[in-house]
Amino acid sequence: MIHVDQVRKTYTSDTGTVTIGPVNVDIPAGGVTALVGPNGAGKSTLLTMIGRLLGIDEGVIEVAGYDVSTTASADLARILSVLRQENHFITRLTVRQLVGFGRFPYSKGRLTRLDEHKISEAIDFLNLGDLEDRYLDQLSGGQRQRAYVAMVLAQDTEYVLLDEPLNNLDMRHSVQMMGRLRDAARELGRTIVVVLHDINFAAHYADAIVAMKDGDVVQSGSVEQIMDAAVLTHVFDTPVQVIDGPTGKLAVYY
Ligand SMILES: Nc1ncnc2c1ncn2[C@@H]1O[C@H](COP(=O)(O)OP(=O)(O)OP(=O)(O)O)[C@@H](O)[C@H]1O
Ligand SMILES: [Mg+2]
Repeated sequence: MIHVDQVRKTYTSDTGTVTIGPVNVDIPAGGVTALVGPNGAGKSTLLTMIGRLLGIDEGVIEVAGYDVSTTASADLARILSVLRQENHFITRLTVRQLVGFGRFPYSKGRLTRLDEHKISEAIDFLNLGDLEDRYLDQLSGGQRQRAYVAMVLAQDTEYVLLDEPLNNLDMRHSVQMMGRLRDAARELGRTIVVVLHDINFAAHYADAIVAMKDGDVVQSGSVEQIMDAAVLTHVFDTPVQVIDGPTGKLAVYY
């Protein structure tokens, strides 16, 4: 479980301060939890704090019982992996070399046969086999996005946090990636937390949804609870209807 207790973060810049929180939320172990909400709601802030890439000003976050503020990075890296929304480093690395970085917590740079196996598995998982020897700057945006997700999956952690992994992906690859993430959660017992902007993807693939707005978690619960016209209209500050579609509830907002 991911336990977020009274967590607060204040950003200070020339233009003033922005406070995220206090956030209180529990994300169950196992399954896919979608983190949704408008731009600036605090989704990336929360995700990067859970992933200990950003310090917490107040409160406590525990992942599988480990306090992320006090647990050594090397230990956390074996239970938790994070894909950031931005700051992906693009250098002259091949896809396979990039995915190999996911094994760093285990190999410290000296890849074993098991590491090579995990790298190949992650590459296959995202259908990157044909591209594994290509340099990152020779890929399309969507192909590169898949390579970063493969790197995170190669880390082989119980908890996987992904900030907008569907960025730049076409329909087929979006559907494929969400299907695979759901399979990883169901079949391998992983806990996957994923920031999504497409609420219908969240409804279809997630087991639970956490909705943020203005720096707070405003709703969290089952897909049924969140896929509600009044809830979504409030969260996104725009008129949303919810209809019964062929595959379940569908949000219509245009
Ligand atoms: N480094 C920073 N310095 C100052 N303010 C920041 C910083 N990072 C984020 N913020 C502010 O914190 C708030 C939350 O930002 P955050 O990136 O968490 O939102 P988000 O929900 O991920 O949005 P998006 O959907 O656009 O990615 C925003 O108001 C943003 O402007
Ligand atoms: Mg964000």
